[in-house]
Amino acid sequence: MDIYRQGIRPLLFSGLKVDPEWLHSQFMATLTWLETTGDRPPAAWLVQQLHQACCTTHPALRQQLWGLDFDNPIGLAAGFDKDGTGAALWSHFGFGFAELGTVTLHPQPGNSLPRLFRLPQDRAALNRMGFNNRGAAALATRLKQLITTPYKLKNSSLSPASLPLGINLGKSKVTPLELAADDYLGSFRLLKELGDYFVVNVSSPNTPGLRSLQDASQLDQILAVLQHENTEHKPLLVKIAPDLAWEAIADIVKLAQTHHLAGIIATNTTIRRDGLNTHLLPGIGTYLTDEPGGISGAPLRQRATEVIRFIYQKTAGTLPIIGVGGVFTADDAWEKITAGASLVQVYTGWMYEGPQLVPRILSGLAQKLTEHGMSHIRDAVGSSAQ
Ligand SMILES: Cc1cc2nc3c(=O)[nH]c(=O)nc-3n(C[C@H](O)[C@H](O)[C@H](O)COP(=O)(O)O)c2cc1C
Repeated sequence: MDIYRQGIRPLLFSGLKVDPEWLHSQFMATLTWLETTGDRPPAAWLVQQLHQACCTTHPALRQQLWGLDFDNPIGLAAGFDKDGTGAALWSHFGFGFAELGTVTLHPQPGNSLPRLFRLPQDRAALNRMGFNNRGAAALATRLKQLITTPYKLKNSSLSPASLPLGINLGKSKVTPLELAADDYLGSFRLLKELGDYFVVNVSSPNTPGLRSLQDASQLDQILAVLQHENTEHKPLLVKIAPDLAWEAIADIVKLAQTHHLAGIIATNTTIRRDGLNTHLLPGIGTYLTDEPGGISGAPLRQRATEVIRFIYQKTAGTLPIIGVGGVFTADDAWEKITAGASLVQVYTGWMYEGPQLVPRILSGLAQKLTEHGMSHIRDAVGSSAQ
């Protein structure tokens, strides 16, 4: 029985109508408690239970990319853990990797509340968080602390939580757009030794003007500055919006190749509002079409997959893609992988489906491989895009 889907979710989402941001902050506080008291019975026992319920081993699903080993291709998308609060624990939820951030050079509170809404009729969310985070220096301190005292469960054979950690960088709201490159550079300097890969986020709809940095000339400058600083050749990726025209995506692909980027993350949330069953913003009652913010979840699934397929075809599969947008099932993840994604991330699906989502997707993917007579997940990447 899936306790989350059958008991907890109906209670929180429909019964008590718990505010999604409050719920998220309670969850993050629980992660802090688990980490700090993990050497004592209730917390240690809980993490063990979590590990047993969520972590499965599928050798056929292991991925290797950029010299990094991923136990499986399913990762936590950016935005859930902006400050690295759960960095020590994500592996116990069964994830193959986690992307921290978006972090900005300057700490910032984000937009005013309420700024996160569930749209259950669409299996979606609307958010306009605005990069609320404690800043790059605080994330650096947090990650250094994890390196010096790795989290390990007492009396357990489980190894210290180790999984590839990405760091997603955004522009601080106070920094003018023309100084964006310096802002990204400042964060990268503080964090470059502490992440396994880095993402230039120019696609959030919730920082004024940010998406204009996807224009080739502006992005060119940011990527040049970052790659100049990147003497250790850390994998650097760019995360794009689903709302770009094909020509703009083609331009970004060209830039990615020119600057020797490690890959592209497709996609961020969408500013489109068409095709939704929800018309009024829950709890507020205003028209969704009048409300700022990005839509994530099921309504984004198809467009994100099309963008992945386009990039895969444009590059003949030579540029790795992390696919994200509307993944709730193994079928959804398979669709992204066969369209060209080497790795897949989840956010809204995890919010709706709970911690059982990852093991469910992984066993479904392993089954898909068997059904298609494939021996390894890398054989599936791009197999429907050729
Ligand atoms: C509440 C919320 C906050 C997010 N914050 C960020 C963020 O800070 N940086 C980022 O790159 N993407 C952010 N995203 C976008 C997700 O990483 C992901 O690209 C998008 O939600 C599509 O995936 P999904 O349909 O699985 O949610 C956020 C999404 C949500 C729902």
